[in-house]
Parts: sequence; structure tokens; C-alpha cells
Amino acid sequence: MKKSIKFLRILGVIGLIALVVIQFIPVEENKQGYESVLAFEAETNVSPELAAIFKANCYDCHSNQTQYPWYSAVAPINFWLDEHVRDGKKHFNLSQWPEYSIKRKDHKLEELIEEVEEAEMPLPSYTWVHGSLSEDQRQALIDWAQMTRLTYRLELEAKSVEPEVN
Ligand code: HEC
Repeated sequence: MKKSIKFLRILGVIGLIALVVIQFIPVEENKQGYESVLAFEAETNVSPELAAIFKANCYDCHSNQTQYPWYSAVAPINFWLDEHVRDGKKHFNLSQWPEYSIKRKDHKLEELIEEVEEAEMPLPSYTWVHGSLSEDQRQALIDWAQMTRLTYRLELEAKSVEPEVN
């Protein structure tokens, strides 16, 4: 009995030491600034209301600008948040929107509509803390994405009927 308590105590101390040590592992912050999404907002006619929705629900993982909560400074929470930001940006980075082809933009918006309709975005772990999108916010995102897809479709079509210049 006594032996196992001693063992647990040693384990506890090792755990505490590990927790202190990992605080010193550096994690690069995703903080380029809001300028990084302005080109996306301008190109796709994002209204101020919609920009507020993106800012509060999407940019943290899908742009080069994350608004970090206070607990994000604590390891291992910071590793976990960093993983989500990296993964989210890999799939869909609104700070890189101008570099996407029209086809890709159209496809990403199609995926956005799906994810938002099925309430798969924002990620559940995010909505626990930040709250979910309201029905109106969801609809606003979908309406905007559908409108924007139309303009990209027109652009694609215009390109395909352009006479070949040798
Ligand atoms: C906590 C981080 C996080 C937040 C917040 C978040 N996402 Fe995501 N998103 C991810 C991750 C991680 C993936 C990739 C894995 C997956 O699909 O589950 C992803 C995937 C996506 C995809 C699919 C892209 C593809 O290529 O498959 C779309 C579209 C998307 N998110 C849109 C949104 C929108 C719109 C919001 C805001 C309403 C949002 N996300 C909020 C992390 C996030």
C-alpha cells in the first residue's frame, strides 16, 4: 500500500516537471495582422456584418491571423491549437485567397457551403468555447458564398469562350 502511494507521488512529480519543461518549447504564433485578409474581403464583397462573422468564427483557423485566447499560452493547449490552425490553413487559407485559381476559389466556396450547411464548421472544439453560428449567420454565409460562386462561374465561362489567341 505504502509503496504504491510513493510510486504515485513520484509519478506526480515527474508529471509536474514535464508540464513545466514543455512550457519552454516554442510555438510560432500565427499573427500576421488583419491586413492579410483584406484582399479576400474586397474581392468577394464581404460586408462588414459578414466580416464580423468570419472574424469571430473562421479567421482564427483559416487565415494568417489568429486571435489567441489567454489560455493559448499554456502548453500543451498551445500545441493542440497550433495543430488546428496549421491544419485549417492547409485546407483553406483566406490570407492566400488572391493566389488561388478561380477554379479553386469556386471549389472552396462549394466546400464552405457544405461545411456550414452541415454545421461541421467551425470545429466542435471551437464552438464549445466560442459558441455556434446562429441560423441567420449560417444563412448569411451561404447566401454570400452562392453569390460569389456565381461571379467566379461567369469569369470561368468568359475565359472558356475567349477566342484562342494562337
Ligand atoms: C478551430 C479551427 C477551425 C475553425 C474555427 C474553423 N475551421 Fe474550417 N477547418 C478546420 C480544419 C482543421 C479543417 C480541415 C479538416 C476538416 O475538414 O475537418 C477545416 C476545413 C474547412 C473547410 C474544407 C476545406 C477543404 O479543402 O476541405 C472549409 C470550407 C472550412 N473549414 C470553412 C470554415 C468556415 C467557413 C469557418 C467559420 C464559420 C471555419 N471553417 C472555422 C479548422 C477550423
